[in-house]
Amino acid sequence: MTIQISIPARRSLRTLVAGGAGFIGSHICDTLLRRGDTVVCIDNLHTGSLRNIRPLLNHPNFSFIEHDVREPLDLEGRLDRVYNLACPASPPHYQQDPVGTMKTCVLGTLNLLELAREKSARILQASTSEVYGDPEVHPQPETYVGHVNTIGPRACYDEGKRAAETLMFDYQRMYGLDIKVARIFNTYGPRMHENDGRVVSNFIVQALRGAPITVYGSGSQTRSFCFVDDLVRGLEMLMESPASVTGPINLGNPHEMSIEAIAREVLACTQSASTLEFKPLPVDDPKRRKPVITTAERLLGWRPQIPLRKGLEATIAYFALEVAGRAPSGPNRRPPRRPGRAQLALARSQ
Ligand SMILES: NC(=O)c1ccc[n+]([C@@H]2O[C@H](COP(=O)([O-])OP(=O)(O)OC[C@H]3O[C@@H](n4cnc5c(N)ncnc54)[C@H](O)[C@@H]3O)[C@@H](O)[C@H]2O)c1
Repeated sequence: MTIQISIPARRSLRTLVAGGAGFIGSHICDTLLRRGDTVVCIDNLHTGSLRNIRPLLNHPNFSFIEHDVREPLDLEGRLDRVYNLACPASPPHYQQDPVGTMKTCVLGTLNLLELAREKSARILQASTSEVYGDPEVHPQPETYVGHVNTIGPRACYDEGKRAAETLMFDYQRMYGLDIKVARIFNTYGPRMHENDGRVVSNFIVQALRGAPITVYGSGSQTRSFCFVDDLVRGLEMLMESPASVTGPINLGNPHEMSIEAIAREVLACTQSASTLEFKPLPVDDPKRRKPVITTAERLLGWRPQIPLRKGLEATIAYFALEVAGRAPSGPNRRPPRRPGRAQLALARSQ
């Protein structure tokens, strides 16, 4: 898929991408290398995978360091930019080891802030719409301070990310560090995890397998999904914005849809015969989510450009290859739908 990146040309930079072997991080690595930057990717491969960055491993400007951000990092040479994406992002992953998640958010951000300070580098924190919790204000502007249950099962992530934002602004106030904070809303696209309970990947994989599509709750709760190319463009625009633009800035697609409507869109795109299966809503699951993106529009000139149908087609093409490669066999399994030629072309262009 070709998108227009309206980011002015700049000198080649040396950029650290923490969490660079993950879904969003690997797309950032791709983009930065295409721009001629030198990329140091660090990741502990907890939820990320070398598969996501395998094509980059032989690139002369790319290096990978297996490292856990909860530990301080020594890095030789200059460093211009730090993207901090290192953190498990889906509820099953971050709830597996809640104390570990909190440490990743807090100690990880602290260690990267120290590195950025030592190198006089600019640092961008991948924060999240989860800092708004189960919002009482709808849609959510950056000025909304949130409604988070501090003791619930999601708190390790929500409160960890809130504390990370606090650290970012304290480093700016205390040390004059050049910081950027992006509040990312639900993002989807190729290289999402297959089985991490996130809506779009779940629905697509279930539809491709002909399995029932699991909808939690009544399906009337809403989300706003942003395609990964749009998000990465927004992150890069924020990173390259003037130093006065610190954020927090919402980055997400304001096109709000009910979960049931998304399930039906996935069924239409995959032409699957799957049916919807309704299950109880998990604890503290937010009922509505929609970003106000006027700050991003005004300060960055950013808004998402890729319609849901197009983004879904590219994502379905990716998962069709994944499912075909790893389809379980057995009498009750239908063969996965093979991707069409257009879908394959889209997937390969990712
Ligand atoms: N995907 C979304 O919809 C979304 C929404 C809001 C915020 N975010 C944020 O964006 C970032 C990336 O999310 P993603 O969807 O790509 O998830 P992901 O799980 O695919 O990527 C996270 C990466 O961080 C790595 N990681 C985790 N803990 C680490 C540690 N202690 N040390 C080093 N590496 C570690 C993982 O191995 C993985 O590669 C996360 O910080 C997440 O909180 C994502």
